[in-house]
Amino acid sequence: MSSGFIDLPELLSARGNVRLPGSKSISNRVLLLAALADGVTEVRDLLESDDTARMLEALGALGVEIVSLGGGVWRVKGVGGVFPRRQAELFLGNAGTAFRSLTAVLALCGGEYRLSGVPRMHERPIGDLVDALRQVGADIVCTENEGYPPLHIRPAAIKPGEVVRIRGDVSSQFLTGLLMALPLTGVETTIEVIGELISRPYIEITLATMARFGVQIRRDGWQRFIVPAGCAYRSPGTAYVEGDASSASYFLALGAIGGGPLRVEGVGRDSIQGDVRFCEALAQMGARIEMGENWIEASGPAHGRLRGIELDCNHIPDAAMTLATTALFAEGATTLKNIGSWRVKETDRIAAMAAELRKLGATVEEGGDFIRITPHSSLLTPHGGIDTYDDHRIAMCFSLATFGTPVRINDPGCVAKTFPDYFERFAEVTEAVPVIAIDGPSASGKGTIAARVAAQLGWHYLDSGAIYRLAALAAQRAGVSWDDEAGVAEIAAGLDVEFGENSIRLAGEEVGDAIRYEEISIGASRIAALPSVRQALLFRQRLFRRAPGLVADGRDMASVVFPDSRTKVFLTASVEVRAQRRYKQLIEKGIAASIDPLLLDLRERDLRDSQRSVAPLQQSEGAHLLDTTELTIAQTVAQVLEWSGKPS
Ligand code: DC
Repeated sequence: MSSGFIDLPELLSARGNVRLPGSKSISNRVLLLAALADGVTEVRDLLESDDTARMLEALGALGVEIVSLGGGVWRVKGVGGVFPRRQAELFLGNAGTAFRSLTAVLALCGGEYRLSGVPRMHERPIGDLVDALRQVGADIVCTENEGYPPLHIRPAAIKPGEVVRIRGDVSSQFLTGLLMALPLTGVETTIEVIGELISRPYIEITLATMARFGVQIRRDGWQRFIVPAGCAYRSPGTAYVEGDASSASYFLALGAIGGGPLRVEGVGRDSIQGDVRFCEALAQMGARIEMGENWIEASGPAHGRLRGIELDCNHIPDAAMTLATTALFAEGATTLKNIGSWRVKETDRIAAMAAELRKLGATVEEGGDFIRITPHSSLLTPHGGIDTYDDHRIAMCFSLATFGTPVRINDPGCVAKTFPDYFERFAEVTEAVPVIAIDGPSASGKGTIAARVAAQLGWHYLDSGAIYRLAALAAQRAGVSWDDEAGVAEIAAGLDVEFGENSIRLAGEEVGDAIRYEEISIGASRIAALPSVRQALLFRQRLFRRAPGLVADGRDMASVVFPDSRTKVFLTASVEVRAQRRYKQLIEKGIAASIDPLLLDLRERDLRDSQRSVAPLQQSEGAHLLDTTELTIAQTVAQVLEWSGKPS
């Protein structure tokens, strides 16, 4: 299980090129067939992810020699249909493709094998495949619950031939497993599919990959498949893995929502993956799509906004999830039908999608096999973040919501299942709301400068010191000591604040002046040294980053809160000048003050702010140093604007 979070800023646009990682579906099929084949196969562009790692480990445990040659190239020495190890225990994580296909192949291999996975894998049905394999004599025991992993496969006399019946309406991976396994028997067998076959494009991938390894299946519509006698897998020498068409969907949607053009490379017109047809759905929503042999490009609608659609998604079960979050940016409702298989995937994807879309303000109706999304006029911000249910696709789908709000994605590491560097690629092709970060010591004039720069640009302004001051005041009012880290962090996490034009409210009460008292300054500096308080206030600060831009002042704006700031400034002045400025400011507010204690105080706070272990005050890399001891406010503002590329 992954943990933690990633905070994604609100986006302004998306464009560029993305080279896709290899397809998960093709990678795991190619690995298995290369392992079973006669001869050595060089597999190129293999996806390197959790699911393929599980398959590689399993094949290694079965005695297959597989060597990484680097750069996504692997050499697989085929075993000619018989695994060297006749006994093995395989752990397959949550990799459905690996679990289902290995079950079928191993059941016909005559060895003794135990297959298990993560707890969710043990909730995903496999009974229909087990039943089909038992029809040809396989000896498979479901060791916990009938119809579900873990499995114990024992040697058995396989009696192939004639007809095997298998259900097609729960998961197409059952049929895929059976199709890939039956050629090992060498006897002609007919597979009859009971019920409507779902996710047909995945069966096409299976058949195309098998053909690449020399086994041609005859089929009669989608109901009967004939595995011919005497066929065996032969290495094609080199096998290329196409880019992942399901992974392409997030970038194509980004182009459609964020203007584009956004081009994905690695899949195109000639792809064997059904999910490339996702772009037809996007086009129906109004996006402009162009396609070449090996690339697809998406741009926003020529006129107006995207439109909601109603679609039977049987042909694009995985990519259809991307439509659910694209729907947040469409006019009118979007209805996705025939998606019952979502319920038995990494998580119950219909329920998960519905719950998370509602956090963004959408109205969602869900049924056994459909979901209808009606977006709210503007996206709400989920303060607790978006939960991902250990499901890579949920994490990637919700990255799209950033076109309307900053989004915290919880447990983002789950993307490693199919796309380990998704968020890096995402950042490369998106333009986030820009930030000018102004850090510096107390009373260096940051607040005045930042507020004026913001006003001049028409951007938002974040006085992050005020947030620490508010937390200190709230703790004091609640009778929580400033040294009580857990207590203050809890107060910080639940802070009820409202920033207005010229007002700051705490629990509804105006506190603009109260947070400026020296006592609270000292409290703010004390609580700012507590790591869990800083952590609790992080997302709250990031939420200020809204279009068209943000000017943020504080101590760690450039280093921690907005490390990707477009412009970073470290503002300082001599301690004597800062004491005088603070003195003037307090007197103007009618607060009694005198210079000497202020000077002493500033020196102490400088020391505490710069020597604390977390986010100490320092000039971060890439920050411009600006000493304002001798500068006027107007000169300072002009300098910051010039550095930001927007001179006044
Ligand atoms: O900028 P200020 O004086 O209003 O800040 C009050 C205190 O909050 C200061 O002593 C340090 C702390 N602070 C911080 O640690 N990190 C920030 N980004 C802003 C302020």
